Amino acid sequence: MAVRYELIKICKQTGARLGRLHTPHGTIDTPVFMPVGTQATVKTMSPEELKEMGSGIILSNTYHLFLRPGHEIVKEAGGLHGFINWDRAILTDSGGFQVFSLSDLRKIEEEGVSFRSHLSGQPLFISPEKSIEIQNALGADIIMAFDECPPYPAERRYVRDSMDRTHRWLKRCVGAHQRPEDQALFGIVQGGMYKDLRQESAKQITSVELPGYAIGGLSVGESKDLMYEMLEVTTPLLPQNKPRYLMGVGSPDALVEGVIRGVDMFDCVLPTRIARNGTTMTSQGRVVVRNAKYARDFTPLDPECDCYTCRNYSRAYLRHLIKADETFGIRLTTYHNLYFLLRLMEQIRQAILEDRLQDFRDAFFEKYYGSDE
Ligand code: GUN
Ligand code: ZN
Repeated sequence: MAVRYELIKICKQTGARLGRLHTPHGTIDTPVFMPVGTQATVKTMSPEELKEMGSGIILSNTYHLFLRPGHEIVKEAGGLHGFINWDRAILTDSGGFQVFSLSDLRKIEEEGVSFRSHLSGQPLFISPEKSIEIQNALGADIIMAFDECPPYPAERRYVRDSMDRTHRWLKRCVGAHQRPEDQALFGIVQGGMYKDLRQESAKQITSVELPGYAIGGLSVGESKDLMYEMLEVTTPLLPQNKPRYLMGVGSPDALVEGVIRGVDMFDCVLPTRIARNGTTMTSQGRVVVRNAKYARDFTPLDPECDCYTCRNYSRAYLRHLIKADETFGIRLTTYHNLYFLLRLMEQIRQAILEDRLQDFRDAFFEKYYGSDE
C-alpha cells in the first residue's frame, strides 16, 4: 500500500490520536495541517520556505490543474513533484468540491458532472474515471475519490441521493485507479447535516477497503457546533488503523476540536487567504495588521513566535507593506500564518503525547479567543 498509518498513542484526557503517516515522499507526524497549493503553488511561498517551516505535505487541486496547464503537461514534467520541485508528500483533491464551488452551469448526472470552465467558459466533463485519470497523471501520494459535497442547507432527500451516488462513484474510482502501489486513494464520507446519513455514509464508504478515509461536506456554512456533532457521529465508525482527514477545515478552534474528535489530517485556505488581506493568527488571537492602531507599533507581529517574519519585522512595517499592496507584505504574513498553524499542530501532538490535550485546549482558547467559548 502506498500510504501506511501508524497509531502511536491515544490521549488519555481526550481520545485524540497521535500517529505517523508513511508515504512514498516521507513520513508525516499526525495530527497534521496541510497548506493548500491550489494552482501547484502555495501562494507566495517557495518549497524551501515550506520545508523550513516544517511542512511535510501540501495539497493541490485536480480541477485547477486539469483546466490549466493540463494534467498531460504536469505528467511530462515528471508529475507534480517534478513540476513544482517538491520532494515531500502531496495530496490532490478530486475536483468534486471545486466544480461545485467555482464553475458555472454544472449538471450532475450518474455518469459525472458537466460544467463550464470558470476561466474560459469552455464546456467540460469530469467523471469518477476522469478524476482518477487526472490524479494518476499528477502523481500525488494521496488522491481523493470523486464525490459530491451537497450545499448547506439541503433537503434530506437530496442529501441521501447525493450520498448514495458518491458511494457508487467511489467504487468506480477504485476500478479506475491505475497506481494503487504508489498512490493512496482515500474515500470521502458525506451525509450533509443528518446524523443518521453521516453514519450510513461512514458504513458505506468504509465497506470499501482503502488506505484512508476523509470526512467531506463540512464547514459549508453550518455552525461549528453542528460540524462537531457530525464529526462525533462519524469518527467512531472509521477504522482505528487508517488516517482520518477532515476536508477544508483549518481555523485554530476547529483544528483543536477536530483532533479531540479523532481527526488526523486537515487542510484549509484560511491561513494563506486571510494573510493576503493582512489578517494574521497570533498567540494572542487575530491581528489585522492593516489596522491604524499598528501604524507606530514597532514590536513583532507575535512576540511568542520565532518565525522569519516575527524575528525580523514589525507590525508597523507589515501594515505599511500590506497597505501599499507590496508582494513582500503578503509573503511575510503568509509565512507567519502557516508557521503559526504548523506550530499549533506540533503543540497539539506534544499535548497528546503527554495526555493533556483538554488542558491545552482550554488554555489555548482562553488566550486565542479570550474565553473558552
Ligand atoms: N474540500 C472541502 N470539502 C470537501 C468535500 O466535501 N469534498 C471534496 N472532494 N473536497 C472538499
Ligand atoms: Zn511569526
